[in-house]
Amino acid sequence: MLDVLTAPAAPAIKRRQDYRPPAWLVPNVDLDFALDPGATRVRARLEVTRNGGAGEPLRLDGDGLTPLAVIVDGVAVNDWRLEDDQLVIPLTGASHVIETEVEIAPDQNTQLMGLYSSGGNLCTQCEAEGFRRITYFPDRPDVLATYRVRMTADKARYPVLLANGDPIASGDNDDGTHWAEWHDPFPKPSYLFALVAGDLACNAGTFTTRSGREVQLGIWVRAADLAKTDHALHALKTSMAWDERVYGREYDLDVFNIVAVDDFNFGAMENKGLNIFNSRYILADPDTATDYDYDAIAAVVAHEYFHNWSGNRITCRDWFQLSLKEGFTVFRDQGFSADQGSAAVKRIEDVRGLRASQFPEDAGPLAHPVRPESYLEISNFYTSTIYNKGAELIRMMATILGPARFRTACDLYFDRFDGTAATCEDFVTCMEEGGGVDLSRFRLWYSQAGTPRVSASLEHDGGRATLRLAQQVPPTPGQSAKEPMVLPLRIRLFGAETGQPLGPEQLVLLEEANESIVFDGVAERPVLSINRGFSAPVTIESDRTAADLAFLARHDDDPFARYEAMQQLMLDTLIAGAVEGQADHRAVIDAVADTLDDPALDPAFVAEAVLLPSESFIGDQLSTVDPEAIYRAREALRGDLGRALAERWRNIYEANTSGAAYAYTPAGKGARRIRNVALGYIAASGASDAAALAFRQFEQADNMTDRQGALSTLVNGDSDLREAALDIFYNRYSGNGLVLDKWFQTQALSTRDDTLEAVAALAEHPSFTLANPNRARSLIGAFAVNQRAFNRADGAGYRFLADQLIALDRLNPQTAAKLLPPLGRWRRFDPARGALMRAELERIVATPGLSKDLFEQASKSLQ
Ligand code: ARG
Ligand code: ZN
Repeated sequence: MLDVLTAPAAPAIKRRQDYRPPAWLVPNVDLDFALDPGATRVRARLEVTRNGGAGEPLRLDGDGLTPLAVIVDGVAVNDWRLEDDQLVIPLTGASHVIETEVEIAPDQNTQLMGLYSSGGNLCTQCEAEGFRRITYFPDRPDVLATYRVRMTADKARYPVLLANGDPIASGDNDDGTHWAEWHDPFPKPSYLFALVAGDLACNAGTFTTRSGREVQLGIWVRAADLAKTDHALHALKTSMAWDERVYGREYDLDVFNIVAVDDFNFGAMENKGLNIFNSRYILADPDTATDYDYDAIAAVVAHEYFHNWSGNRITCRDWFQLSLKEGFTVFRDQGFSADQGSAAVKRIEDVRGLRASQFPEDAGPLAHPVRPESYLEISNFYTSTIYNKGAELIRMMATILGPARFRTACDLYFDRFDGTAATCEDFVTCMEEGGGVDLSRFRLWYSQAGTPRVSASLEHDGGRATLRLAQQVPPTPGQSAKEPMVLPLRIRLFGAETGQPLGPEQLVLLEEANESIVFDGVAERPVLSINRGFSAPVTIESDRTAADLAFLARHDDDPFARYEAMQQLMLDTLIAGAVEGQADHRAVIDAVADTLDDPALDPAFVAEAVLLPSESFIGDQLSTVDPEAIYRAREALRGDLGRALAERWRNIYEANTSGAAYAYTPAGKGARRIRNVALGYIAASGASDAAALAFRQFEQADNMTDRQGALSTLVNGDSDLREAALDIFYNRYSGNGLVLDKWFQTQALSTRDDTLEAVAALAEHPSFTLANPNRARSLIGAFAVNQRAFNRADGAGYRFLADQLIALDRLNPQTAAKLLPPLGRWRRFDPARGALMRAELERIVATPGLSKDLFEQASKSLQ
């Protein structure tokens, strides 16, 4: 077993319990940048004041910096020292002015943390610990400073100079450079600092806040992309109005800018007044972006905007509290998206996402609580647990409080902690006080990792129904014994004969390991609808029969529960197929037919409900994943559904092929979704004209949703039209990086037998590069979640991933570490595959010069 202390550079473990308030505060900071891609000079002037702790020297974080000058109260000093990467300056008084100067090289910065170049422009990413790669500073979120920033740069190359807050002054020098000064009046932590220098065009707009302040909005991109920014600008305005209406939160500066860059480690960043985005979450037009991309752009624009209150006005005391801002902000952006279209479909998509990434994380070696206890590298904790399970915790509290009291409690939180760096505990306390509830036991959700399992059985005897519930939280690394948690379960019973509800929905708070709930006056045999709306992020095991599930799929009045019943029915069938080699498909076929035939249902909902669970999700239900058996069982059911309902799929396909031009509307999205699902089933049926049908759609499409949908269908098959479509697609979009990502990704997700060989060849393609995170994720990341291709029995998939991660780690440790988790699933597979996965993890850990990012993920994955 690997000891974390044998790490190459013996990186220090940080612990939540070790939190101490900062010894020094920095009320004000002035930064002066002489910007140059090869050598940027950064001069910093910090006003520092002692915060208790007499005698403590000032400790400033740095990463890869060398001090060129250290000046204290106007006098150059030399009694400073470097301890690891910290600049330590002995100081005697209660307040001082510290000046430092460093030089950095943005164009050498392949980590994309700190100041770096992307597409010829300069930009920053500071969360979590990137600011220390720019200048010496107490780089921790509880040190809040007001920033004044001056930038000087070549005017021809960098005509636009942006930073946080409001522009103050600007001018030209006579040496071809120009300068600009920005001031941000809101004290902020260093991770929210940002600047951009570049040749950018602006899609400008305005928003008038409810108190009448006019805000200048700008979406900044390269000039050629300007036509693709209207959707993002519209989403921004919609988000600003939504946060006023739903949470009473108004924007607070005169300017709100967003800049899109092509090289970005994550989705986007909420820097105060100057959000910086991965261009994939800004740029859209019908020819290049799918409906899914349009949705994601609106969601991420909203997410980053909402951070202005949940993150910026109230930030985190320390990084263990990360979910305070991320879980809450994800919950807020989910609410926003639910209000833009179908709330039911949004909930289905979010739960599908949670099950695809957070549940496996919580069941594997990297499981951690929503408020972690320790870390080596904080970047590794920007996880689905912190974000998505964190959002589920907020949702459960909102469910327990109800909408009115939840709003009161949020108001209390925003009011009480405005301008401070707060904790998860502060948030829960506001929920209790504002909501008038006791959440003492609920707090376990922040400290206990693992997905709770609830078993439910319903007995009916005379006029009485008894629901027996039992909960169990599985052990996770470092947490062997678990306590029962507080689970808000929305429950309703339906009469098996009449199909009618037996009484209203109830909210049951399951708090003990075992509880029984009695329903009186139940004359008919009841069928249980439980965890409606996915009110708690748990796994339900029930004794409901296939007939009960089919009944709920038809009669449940909660759309999520209806979807869920269908999924459970499919899952039971697929598991039987995978384990026994065959299964009876009739119940699923009948339920899918009923769903397709129900005229009252929204096509977007139907499309979700008739899709089979993914291969990975089926694997997650089994004690040992057999990727080949799962694939065969799923293809068999897909084929039977395709053939048995062939006429329906054809009718749906035709009925949803309108001659009308593309429109990003709920009706348009729903039609495209169900049509592409139908195309998939027509192909699965083995129909001889399926490839021709897909190719016709591919050629005639006036939008990327239909074009990519058709391409995916072709890429899974072996018709001659496959290569033709791939070539046409590549040539048509060879100048568009975001669309080329789709070209790589579609091939990496193919169900064909030769996918690994194809992916390995694509890794050598002239358009492939590990230096761009989107491109790396589109090929390597997508391949690693293609369960059957990645888990090939000969281990070649594991070897390929490890090779790529070792190469990527030298350029960009954060992105490499993010792609490692599929190798850590070795316990879930047979011993032969498990040994092959471990061997690759060991090879990674033994690699000289490994980053602590990849070291932490690989070494923990071996445990
Ligand atoms: N705060 C950003 C967001 O959620 C993400 C920043 C990710 N940074 C990181 N080092 N992991 O919108
Ligand atoms: Zn966020």
